Amino acid sequence: MIVSSHNRQSKLGFTALLLASWLGTSGWVQAGEEAQTKEKVEARNELFAKDHADQFKSWQATRESEELGDALAEDPNMVVLWGGYPFAKDYNKPRGHFYALTDVRETLRTGAPKTAEDGPLPMACWSCKSPDVARVIEEQGEDGYFKGMWAKGGPEIVNTIGCADCHDTASKEFKEGKPALHLSRPYASRAMDAIGKPFKEQGRFDQQSQVCGQCHVEYYFSGPTKAVKFPWDKGTTVEQMEAYYDEIGFADWTHALSRTPMLKAQHPEFETWRDGIHGKNNVACVDCHMPKVQNEQGKVYTDHKVGNPFDRFEQTCRNCHTQSKDMLLGIVNERKAAVIDTKLKVEKQLVHAHFEAKAAWDAGATEAEMRDILQDIRHAQWRWDYAIASHGVQMHAPDVALKILASALDKAADARTKLARLLASKGISHEIAIPDISTKEKAQAALGMDMKQFNSDKAQFLKTTVPAWDAEAKAAGRLAQ
Ligand code: HEC
Ligand code: HEC
Ligand code: HEC
Ligand code: HEC
Repeated sequence: MIVSSHNRQSKLGFTALLLASWLGTSGWVQAGEEAQTKEKVEARNELFAKDHADQFKSWQATRESEELGDALAEDPNMVVLWGGYPFAKDYNKPRGHFYALTDVRETLRTGAPKTAEDGPLPMACWSCKSPDVARVIEEQGEDGYFKGMWAKGGPEIVNTIGCADCHDTASKEFKEGKPALHLSRPYASRAMDAIGKPFKEQGRFDQQSQVCGQCHVEYYFSGPTKAVKFPWDKGTTVEQMEAYYDEIGFADWTHALSRTPMLKAQHPEFETWRDGIHGKNNVACVDCHMPKVQNEQGKVYTDHKVGNPFDRFEQTCRNCHTQSKDMLLGIVNERKAAVIDTKLKVEKQLVHAHFEAKAAWDAGATEAEMRDILQDIRHAQWRWDYAIASHGVQMHAPDVALKILASALDKAADARTKLARLLASKGISHEIAIPDISTKEKAQAALGMDMKQFNSDKAQFLKTTVPAWDAEAKAAGRLAQ
């Protein structure tokens, strides 16, 4: 059914030919030495269009994935689970790399800051959106980049995810058309060291996945500058990261209802991929998301239109699998349904737990009485979030997702059992009612969120502040003309 993983470098038939001719033309195999020139990070993606036309055009085609899915409208439980945190305001599904910058400007989560000092979010929130991040880190160091609030970066971080995020664009190799992959984020590089996989010592497949792993990972904001750090010091599984966060006493926020010190998982795709069947066989992100293809002249290049691999089945899955597209898509869809079904079960328990904890506080529960309960809620929700915030997990590691969701369910059950006992000891034996949270709007109203204000502030911000940022960037030569 499948080409053995040991034979990956000599995949069958056409692919082997493709790869061989590509290796020949690109000269990648000779790219041993590393050229360190003094040139600066070039964040203006358009400047590479001329020399690398195929890569540039396919990179630009990520703009075709423009659909913006409103995750909170689809599942309003999440408004309650993220109560008191910006994610309860607005959370969209991912779309093409082309939109990364647009989306971080437009989301209600980043608010409507008027000056460089205004909150709510720190500079770190630009970190996975643009090659300008690499540029500013090079110019000002990590401390210089991270210091300050998000709006400080407005006129600086102006080009969307592009060439210099994944390539050493200043190197001689890159100019010659070789990949010269590198980690443009020093904090990602340190994290790979921490898990014993220093980038420079890795083979080609690992390096390919690590460039994605600069952004498609779990991270948190640490220290006085709120710098990005990956919580990988103990490892990358859900339990290891949980133990890490517990040990340093970290919380992203305090829950608005239950007052739990919460953890928000970001998007640990790299971590869950590692634990899945493809990751274990070292099938790289790129094997599925950036296949080798031919241009009209028959030259082989890497397709930079990072998107859904099923849209290009013949160039992706087909390289290793003989099954039909319908069959494999059917399997993935079945797994997706199972993940969603279990996720909703966990959410139901967690929604109740947050409201029951609030009822316990209201009935005069003490910190000591609540401590264990809040720890269970924290762990349950962290596990739920780790599983579902990992986009594509139904494909990458469905077994891992289901196992983690099962442990979340177990911990939520522990919390609710303890809560029932505690509430009874306070004379409350009836069920704690849940308000109407059947739509995003109703759930936000139930949490007392003034969405009208957030929305009108944002509209104003997009009309005045953002154009001023772009004008300043243009004047400073940070945008291609
Ligand atoms: C998200 C990461 C990423 C971004 C963004 C990116 N590349 Fe690539 N690029 C890759 C990977 C991965 C490869 C394949 C590496 C390999 O084969 O080992 C590659 C390969 C290449 C190559 C080598 C020839 C080839 O086609 O395989 C060139 C040249 C290149 N990219 C140019 C660009 C240009 C120009 C841009 C910006 C318009 C860009 N890349 C943006 C990840 C990226
Ligand atoms: C510099 C950070 C960064 C790097 C590097 C990066 N990504 Fe992304 N990726 C993002 C962000 C941010 C989004 C969401 C953009 C949005 O929704 O506005 C995203 C979206 C995606 C999507 C969804 C696309 C769609 O059309 O729905 C896929 C798939 C993806 N990335 C895969 C990859 C792969 C594979 C790599 C490595 C080759 C990679 N990414 C490298 C930041 C990055
Ligand atoms: C074996 C193939 C394969 C590998 C390897 C793989 N992916 Fe995926 N990925 C997919 C498929 C297929 C989907 C879409 C699943 C679906 O349609 O339900 C997907 C979905 C995604 C999504 C969600 C896109 C969205 O719009 O929801 C992201 C992000 C992503 N992958 C990133 C990565 C990263 C990063 C890696 C490596 C760390 C990786 N993938 C490795 C096949 C793969
Ligand atoms: C570079 C090779 C490669 C590519 C590309 C690839 N796979 Fe796989 N796939 C593997 C390997 C290796 C295994 C593990 C086989 C084993 O251990 O028997 C596997 C196993 C699987 C399995 C069975 C394991 C499980 O999860 O139950 C499914 C389903 C699968 N792949 C789907 C896909 C889909 C869908 C795509 C395209 C989006 C894809 N694969 C792309 C190499 C690949």
